[in-house]
Amino acid sequence: MDLFNSKDRPRPFYYNGVKFGPIHSPDAMDMVESFEVRDDDVFISAYLKSGTTWTQQIVSLVCAEGDISEVCKVPILRRTPWLETLDMKGTGEPMPKVLKSAPSPRLMKTHLPYYMLPRQARDGKGKIIYCARNVKDVVVSWHNMRLMTHNLPCGTWEENFKEFITPEQAYNGFWWDVIPEYWRHKDDGNMLFIKYEDMKQDLRGHVVKIANFLGKTLSDQRVDKVVANCTFTAMKKSPSTNFTRDPTIQEAFSKAKGSGIEFIRKGEVGDWKNWFSVEENETLEAIHREKMAGTDLTFQFE
Ligand code: A3P
Repeated sequence: MDLFNSKDRPRPFYYNGVKFGPIHSPDAMDMVESFEVRDDDVFISAYLKSGTTWTQQIVSLVCAEGDISEVCKVPILRRTPWLETLDMKGTGEPMPKVLKSAPSPRLMKTHLPYYMLPRQARDGKGKIIYCARNVKDVVVSWHNMRLMTHNLPCGTWEENFKEFITPEQAYNGFWWDVIPEYWRHKDDGNMLFIKYEDMKQDLRGHVVKIANFLGKTLSDQRVDKVVANCTFTAMKKSPSTNFTRDPTIQEAFSKAKGSGIEFIRKGEVGDWKNWFSVEENETLEAIHREKMAGTDLTFQFE
């Protein structure tokens, strides 16, 4: 059965009070809390549309042994499986169960809020790399994602915007709850907190930063090679990161055909200006001011 596209897959559902999309699996999520973490596990975490795939690519290439060009051919979700889903390409089992017997080091992607991560990771075992992005570009990227895929209900831009800023309707948690919670843990010994906009400014610096955090020493030539394969252009072109070689995901993205929208879409800081009305901008800024008042976390919006 095509688990990714099956009509039987749960439609949006609530888990611990948070709304999740059909690709998430309640069965997998049940197993995440008690997931046995290894010292060399790496969790690549991000709110949806915040640079998750980009960070997955960097981490997996930093950790790659041998020929990076060969590693780049392996689909990104095989290199960095999605923790809280079912094994869509293989057994159909919850991924935490499949990962029990996976060889180390295990690199895993997640969109879960901090408090839903495996307990042992929250207690300091393994490593967590969190990538955050300015909220205005996240909403725009999320709307475009929904224009591509048939297994997420897709409203108009205005409807999706309203949903995003409504705590109980937002997918994967309310942005202003999720990101400050990760930020509070930024100085935990096993956490590296990075920002999409900073990566745009200094990709090489972030490759080195991530390598240092993971205890990897890379030669300059190796760093160059990683960087070359992590640029927007390289990732847009590569079938392993743009999902074009993956028929299951192509089916899920069927609405994208002819629409001009691709998963690796624009990769810009400030695209929100092409979408937000003046009123929407004021509404979001008011929420942002109020919710971020207690934190020193700031973002670059253009
Ligand atoms: P846009 O839709 O704004 O273009 P995620 O992987 O969390 O779903 O995030 C997807 C967003 O990251 C998309 O944003 C995508 O284009 C962007 N992205 C992916 N790879 C990138 C790269 N190498 N450089 C910059 N942005 C990238």
